[in-house]
Amino acid sequence: MKASMKYMTIAAVGLAGSLAATGAMAAPDWGSVPGKSVVLFYPGQSSWEWALTTADHPGADKFKAGKDCAACHTGDEKNMGALLVSGKKNEPTPIAGKPGSVVAKVQFSHDAENLYVHITFSEGAQPNAKMDPNYATKVTMMINGGGVPEANRAGCWGMCHDDSAGMPSAGGANRTMYLSKTRAALTRQGGGDTLKPAAALQQLRGGGYELEYWQARINPGSAPVAENGIIFDKRTETKPTDVSATGTDSGGNVSVTLTRKLNDGAGHVVFAPGKHYTVAFAIHSGHAAKRFHYVSFEQSLVLDGAGADFVAK
Ligand code: HEC
Repeated sequence: MKASMKYMTIAAVGLAGSLAATGAMAAPDWGSVPGKSVVLFYPGQSSWEWALTTADHPGADKFKAGKDCAACHTGDEKNMGALLVSGKKNEPTPIAGKPGSVVAKVQFSHDAENLYVHITFSEGAQPNAKMDPNYATKVTMMINGGGVPEANRAGCWGMCHDDSAGMPSAGGANRTMYLSKTRAALTRQGGGDTLKPAAALQQLRGGGYELEYWQARINPGSAPVAENGIIFDKRTETKPTDVSATGTDSGGNVSVTLTRKLNDGAGHVVFAPGKHYTVAFAIHSGHAAKRFHYVSFEQSLVLDGAGADFVAK
């Protein structure tokens, strides 16, 4: 498999040297790459602080004692999504008729230069939420290089706070996602806008305390647009993006591939064989924005190794 991919790369370079100059590599043959189904569910306003509060969430104490979110909830995502999207729990403004979950097939591959992730799903009958005028669908992967312990255990919940835009304690503020330890203090309402001193922030970042995200934005009949960036004290887009996106959206049947260099030299997560990463996925469908998305629980990824949800070869 790896040998044949290497051969394809060499052949492509031989046929068109300019491909090598632009960094383009042979795309994996996804038909022969093993994949896994991931259920993404609608989370409503279930924030990190909500999940950590015993009076709100029956799993709070056991999570704090060491049991991860996925360990309790894997297999239950469809039920959770159906409950939350209905507005009966943690969602004051439900979107009528919105499905509660989406099942995505996820495949990873890599070669000497790039990591590739291929995500395919059918999003079902999605009402138009009219929140994002530009894109019908956004497909996002969160990546933790290992430096964010709460994201190892809780995936996207490590950056989902009660006072981010559209969440219960936002009070009209337009805060993006952020990481807890960047704040001077964290309460049930979130961390607000008071950051730790600059030296402390610098130390956190130096220790790899940040998350990366890759995103494909797509409309039916058009090619996707790629974005990537960092979550630290806020969400910061990388400009220009060094992730590329290819794929199609044929009326809600979406297939996208996101690609980035294993080491992009831009201070982002560096992918190396044998090292374990945490990834998690989000899909905004039906022109939705912010919390009105589907999310997965945390998943593990390793390159060329074993013992992870996904093994990229
Ligand atoms: C010890 C097991 C356990 C752990 C660990 C756990 N939960 Fe839960 N969670 C529960 C139970 C039990 C419920 C309530 C389900 C019910 O009432 O039927 C629940 C409910 C929820 C709900 C509301 C949907 C529903 O079905 O009621 C969300 C969202 C949720 N958990 C997210 C999380 C997140 C995020 C984490 C990790 C930070 C987490 N859970 C960790 C056991 C757990």
